Amino acid sequence: MIGPTGVLALAHTFGLLQSSVLAAVECTGTFKPISASEYVAAINPGWNLVQAVTFQDIKAAGFKSVRIPVTYADHFTGTSPGWAINGGWLQRVSDVVDMALDAGLYVLTNVHHDSWQWADISAAGANVTAIEERMYQTWLQIGQKLGCKSSSVAFEPINEPPINTEEQAAELNKINGIFLKALKDAGGFNTQRVVTLVGPNMDSIKTSQWFEAPTGYENPWALQYHYYSPYDFIFSAWGKTILSADDIAAVEKDIENIRANFTDVPLVIGEFDASPINTEPAARRKYMDVVVQKAKQLNTAVMVWDNGLDHFDRNTKQWKDPQSLQILLNAAAGVTNSLADYTTDASVDEQSSSAYVFHKVGDAVSDQKISISLNGNTLKSIATEDGKPLTPSTDYVASGGDITLKSSFLSTYFSSPAATGSKVNLTLTFSAGATAAVNVVQWDVPKLGLTSSKAVAGADLRIPVTWAGVNQPAAVKMRRNDGIYLFDDWTQYLGPLQAAYGTYSGQWNWDGNSLILTASTVNAVIAAGVSTTFTFDFFPRVPGNSLNYTLTV
Ligand SMILES: *[C@@H]1O[C@H](CO)[C@@H](O)[C@H](O)[C@H]1NC(C)=O
Ligand SMILES: *[C@@H]1O[C@H](CO)[C@@H](O)[C@H](O)[C@H]1NC(C)=O
Ligand SMILES: *[C@@H]1O[C@H](CO)[C@@H](O)[C@H](O)[C@H]1NC(C)=O
Ligand SMILES: *[C@@H]1O[C@H](CO)[C@@H](O)[C@H](O)[C@H]1NC(C)=O
Repeated sequence: MIGPTGVLALAHTFGLLQSSVLAAVECTGTFKPISASEYVAAINPGWNLVQAVTFQDIKAAGFKSVRIPVTYADHFTGTSPGWAINGGWLQRVSDVVDMALDAGLYVLTNVHHDSWQWADISAAGANVTAIEERMYQTWLQIGQKLGCKSSSVAFEPINEPPINTEEQAAELNKINGIFLKALKDAGGFNTQRVVTLVGPNMDSIKTSQWFEAPTGYENPWALQYHYYSPYDFIFSAWGKTILSADDIAAVEKDIENIRANFTDVPLVIGEFDASPINTEPAARRKYMDVVVQKAKQLNTAVMVWDNGLDHFDRNTKQWKDPQSLQILLNAAAGVTNSLADYTTDASVDEQSSSAYVFHKVGDAVSDQKISISLNGNTLKSIATEDGKPLTPSTDYVASGGDITLKSSFLSTYFSSPAATGSKVNLTLTFSAGATAAVNVVQWDVPKLGLTSSKAVAGADLRIPVTWAGVNQPAAVKMRRNDGIYLFDDWTQYLGPLQAAYGTYSGQWNWDGNSLILTASTVNAVIAAGVSTTFTFDFFPRVPGNSLNYTLTV
């Protein structure tokens, strides 16, 4: 904590440095003060990561704010004690902030990747004196550069600071104070500006445990944390493609716990996400809804993380999953969404999802039922995505959220001569909330260009694939031919769709026409010295919709 004595101590520490920096900025305009709770209410929902050209699109989509993460580590031109930042970089940051403000967005900006570089107080042998000095000088310069921006601009000291111990957490609490001291010394409107302070790793549990607000500063402040839990669902680890009822209860509990620890503090989930790239659509949409509804209920603003075109394709200006977006916007506005059901039992050996209607090529075309949790809404209509309405009774029969699509309707898309793949997306409109999308897919088991090869160290292995339905794998099982799991033998305690399964991105991946086993997976096979069978599961996750590939040693 930085009480009045602490402030003096800091002033002493930095006395020398302050004489070497520019005088505090003076602003000519006026500043409309806003409280931290007003700020947090106004920014919900927000969006992360930008190219300037994107601001108008983000605003048009319905977002109220943008978090602009900025890496300073590569832009220092000076060293201790002044840590001068390249003026061109600061100008760029200022210009980008102005573009977001011009688009009518609130802005939250920070010092970002630096937390894993020079600012890592958890690193072995970290020089905290140097980190404090540099953090002060960094924020002094940012504060001077951005000090006259309007009250729509808020600052965050450092992104996800790695912290392992209580002692390091105390240092982080001190750094929150140093950040406020730098803003105060920077002048301008900075002492009136909203800030979002940060706890260890921006993790809700460590923050609850160890965060203590600095005292002796005037800034209105909120507390920011990040949320990517449950890890296995968000990161498609260990074959997980569903959210169980327990998972959902745990998410709600996490958001409730941090609120219960900070009853009077405005809270912001500054990052969270379930990416359309790798998560199953029905479970993903449920996740969006649960996080944002619960956060809204507990006066917590959310800002979605959109890493590398996961949600919004900035080139084509298309949203990858428009339903996820609508769910987020509706939930942030307190509107109830209707959501597709899906298998929530992790112990089963096949899964269903009402985000899809699947038909296996060659099977007779029959009526198919999907099930929607209406959550108090009513179904108004169903249409194809190009706007052609389906006719009730003829094309479908609805009884509450149970909707049966008639074989006569489905036969217009499904048949043995018809190609596999996505045939149409249906849009279900309800009395309130987001629409639901149902992807109507005719599928067959994909085909591999080869089924076995000798492991070659050091490179990703790309296996040519001909897709035949949904163009991505669902999960990959990795079992050595002696029966031992290639990774994580503890997964034997998970259900049959997870035991022995690997993790997306780190261990397996895909692209346009290949399944990919990453170099670390190939290397693990070589290190084990045992040939290994990889079972690629596809959607729908039903028996038979899998392919084996063997890496020999
Ligand atoms: C730690 O950083 C301070 C400030 O830059 C410096 O004076 C001191 O020599 C550094 N200590 C070590 C052990 O490098
Ligand atoms: C504070 O958060 C911790 C960690 O999540 C939790 O165990 C505890 O119950 C919370 N405290 C209150 C008062 O709810
Ligand atoms: C239906 O939507 C999915 C997911 O957005 C997309 O991949 C697919 O191409 C769409 N199908 C059609 C027929 O447009
Ligand atoms: C894949 O290999 C396993 C044994 O390693 C076998 O049980 C399974 O039936 C095979 N699956 C396919 C689709 O060939």
